[in-house]
Amino acid sequence: MSQQQNITDVLMVGATGSFGRIAVQAAQHHGLRPRALVRDIRRAEKLLPGVELVHGDLEDPASLRRALHGADALVLTHGSGSDSRPDARAHIDYGGVRNILLALGDARPRVALMTSVCATRHDVPGANPWKRRSERLLRASGLPYTIVRPGWFDHADPTQRRLVLDQGGTADGGIARDQITETLVRSLLTDSALGKTFELTATDGEEQNDWSVLLSALKADAPRSVDGILDPANLPVTAEPQALRADLDAAGSPRKAG
Ligand SMILES: NC(=O)c1ccc[n+]([C@@H]2O[C@H](COP(=O)([O-])OP(=O)(O)OC[C@H]3O[C@@H](n4cnc5c(N)ncnc54)[C@H](OP(=O)(O)O)[C@@H]3O)[C@@H](O)[C@H]2O)c1
Repeated sequence: MSQQQNITDVLMVGATGSFGRIAVQAAQHHGLRPRALVRDIRRAEKLLPGVELVHGDLEDPASLRRALHGADALVLTHGSGSDSRPDARAHIDYGGVRNILLALGDARPRVALMTSVCATRHDVPGANPWKRRSERLLRASGLPYTIVRPGWFDHADPTQRRLVLDQGGTADGGIARDQITETLVRSLLTDSALGKTFELTATDGEEQNDWSVLLSALKADAPRSVDGILDPANLPVTAEPQALRADLDAAGSPRKAG
């Protein structure tokens, strides 16, 4: 795949979160112009001083259309962790991606989506399919994407800086937050990250600095496939609820064809 168009304006979704705030700094560090999608401007002014803010709510598609306008790229680190509704993951982790894709219309920004090392697992405590379902929408959309599935943050020793990129959904381990957000931003800027899904953990050693080499070693997902290239076939689309299959169809509608 060829180099994406020049990336300058990056809409940061989840920017007020514990990851999002570091992701904004990583984008700034790379000379990008981050714009933070926030629900509460006053609160965000305190959390993200000096950062351009745009009001938007992942559950309000109209607000997303305004916020997305002009974005060259999106970094998606939103999450439903502080939302007590029993179906919060469906509304936020999944519904947020669905609503963004619908609100984009014909726009084709580069997208970096953060999900979880457990995205395809059923055998770990708290496992749920909503982040994987959100990944599926993004793949189906045909947009230029990278999906990063980080391991457990705050569970890596300071000596564990050597990045380990895996595919297939069996990886486990820790990773520092700054390495997750650096990987998300690097994925926007590296050709060989396009169309790839990978788990991200870290092991003892020094951090690699050739991102092109690191990302080139990974296999790309099949175009428009619903799952990552080596994902286990443990969530068949044919067994998914009709509403979710309809969302997949809408995300992959021809107007987004690349
Ligand atoms: N535990 C782990 O080791 C691990 C590993 C990998 C990935 N993760 C995942 O990482 C994700 C992010 O983590 P975090 O610590 O950054 O979460 P967080 O601090 O709770 O941040 C969540 C972000 O999503 C935003 N958000 C929620 N609902 C929204 C809505 N309706 N409209 C717009 N924005 C909305 C929040 O905005 P407000 O500030 O307005 O609430 C906030 O910016 C989580 O989903 C988590 O599952 C966790």
